[in-house]
Amino acid sequence: MKIRVLIVEDEELIRWSLRQRFEERGYQVVEVETGQAALDAFDEGLFDLILLDYRLPDMTGLDVLRGVREVDHDTVVIMMTAYSSIETAVEAIKLGAFHYITKPFQISQLLLTVDKALETTKLRREVRELRRQMKQEFGMEAIIGRDASMLRLFEIIKQVSRTGVSTVFLRGETGTGKDLVARVIHHNSDRAVNSFVNITCTALSESLLESELFGHERGAFTDAKLQKKGLLELADGGTVYLDEVGDMPPALQAKLLRFLEERRFRRVGSTKEISVDVRVMAATNRDLEQAIAGGQFRRDLMYRLNVVSIHLPPLRARGDDLHLLTQHYVAKFASEFRKPIVKISEDARERLRNYTWPGNVRELRNVLERAVLLCKSETINAEDIVLGPAERHSWVWDLETMALPPEGFDFEKLRRLESHLLRQALEQTNNNQTQAAKLLNLSRDRLRYRLQKHGLL
Ligand SMILES: Nc1ncnc2c1ncn2[C@@H]1O[C@H](COP(=O)(O)OP(=O)(O)OP(=O)(O)O)[C@@H](O)[C@H]1O
Ligand SMILES: [Mg+2]
Repeated sequence: MKIRVLIVEDEELIRWSLRQRFEERGYQVVEVETGQAALDAFDEGLFDLILLDYRLPDMTGLDVLRGVREVDHDTVVIMMTAYSSIETAVEAIKLGAFHYITKPFQISQLLLTVDKALETTKLRREVRELRRQMKQEFGMEAIIGRDASMLRLFEIIKQVSRTGVSTVFLRGETGTGKDLVARVIHHNSDRAVNSFVNITCTALSESLLESELFGHERGAFTDAKLQKKGLLELADGGTVYLDEVGDMPPALQAKLLRFLEERRFRRVGSTKEISVDVRVMAATNRDLEQAIAGGQFRRDLMYRLNVVSIHLPPLRARGDDLHLLTQHYVAKFASEFRKPIVKISEDARERLRNYTWPGNVRELRNVLERAVLLCKSETINAEDIVLGPAERHSWVWDLETMALPPEGFDFEKLRRLESHLLRQALEQTNNNQTQAAKLLNLSRDRLRYRLQKHGLL
């Protein structure tokens, strides 16, 4: 799309030379001489860029700017004036004029400003678009479910999002949607403008986790070459999501408890207390009562976390939601993989119904992704539904039990095995590389590289 420029300038010579330069660049140019004409032109259609003279015959550039900003915040406005006065500049910037350039100026200088300004607007638009997508992705609608247990859950989520509850505990088996619910709560609360930071309590060693959470001072330990802010500080005003909190090392549990009680903490190696305003959401799929009995989890921390506790029901207890989620994922993957799937056979449905779904929604999603990939007709049949780890791995050798035979091993076989798997993946997906890559858990580039290596491309 052509960039639309409005030149508002009463001096004909300047207008003319600007028009020349912009048309050379392929911009679409409209020029006017007065403020009123500028506002009229703006009413008729939006511009990407306005070059605005400060001293116009009928009003000032600031008046025009105000009128423009009432309608649109994105248009880049560059104020041009011979009367360089700080106050005008300050006011223009307050109104959101991007730049201020004093006459006389070199056109090349102006063009640089224009480029920078347009780039910033592009970024701003992209950020806004991303926010919108996030909202869509993490709006309430993102959580699928109509079972009574889920309807109750929606009510709780709404309440928690709206209120200032500072601690939320999410419990439920693996794959029931704890991460999803945490993000939805964040994005529907007034904290959404600030960060959602996510940390998995088992991914790091105890000391790393501590400095990750609370930050550290320079020299606090051997590797601490620089001072570092912790996630709690970075999330100020937003949300910290502590995933797998049930597996947090005991020493840190005590520090977390103290933070939850006082909302203050010290960076590692510091004596200064820092207070922050963060909502802490913690999640675990562990049986905490058992962990408490076994001395791995602090009872007082559980009470502290339990202020508002949200329990996510397992999929097998959610009645028709299985059906609902099946429809959703089949439609989603069919469109993603461009497959003309219209139906799920009764046999396939029964197979899904008779399974207990230990991995819950995550497992269902994976099973259906695979089913859509494997499906060769317009209907998903029972044989497209591959359930459970045993079945899934039955046709691949088991690494753990594989031992080098005493007589040795022909390494060439590995190459043949790779080539064999690649060929199968292509066959099963009718030579669709994107789908084959998915089936082999490779990126498309890596798949292509391997196909090339084996002369299959
Ligand atoms: N009710 C739901 N509606 C739509 N998608 C869901 C729902 N519940 C879970 N999912 C999807 O299932 C997958 C797993 O969910 P999530 O990561 O939130 O699980 P979890 O409870 O955090 O599991 P874990 O304990 O293993 O971390 C995600 O892709 C998520 O989007
Ligand atoms: Mg999770």
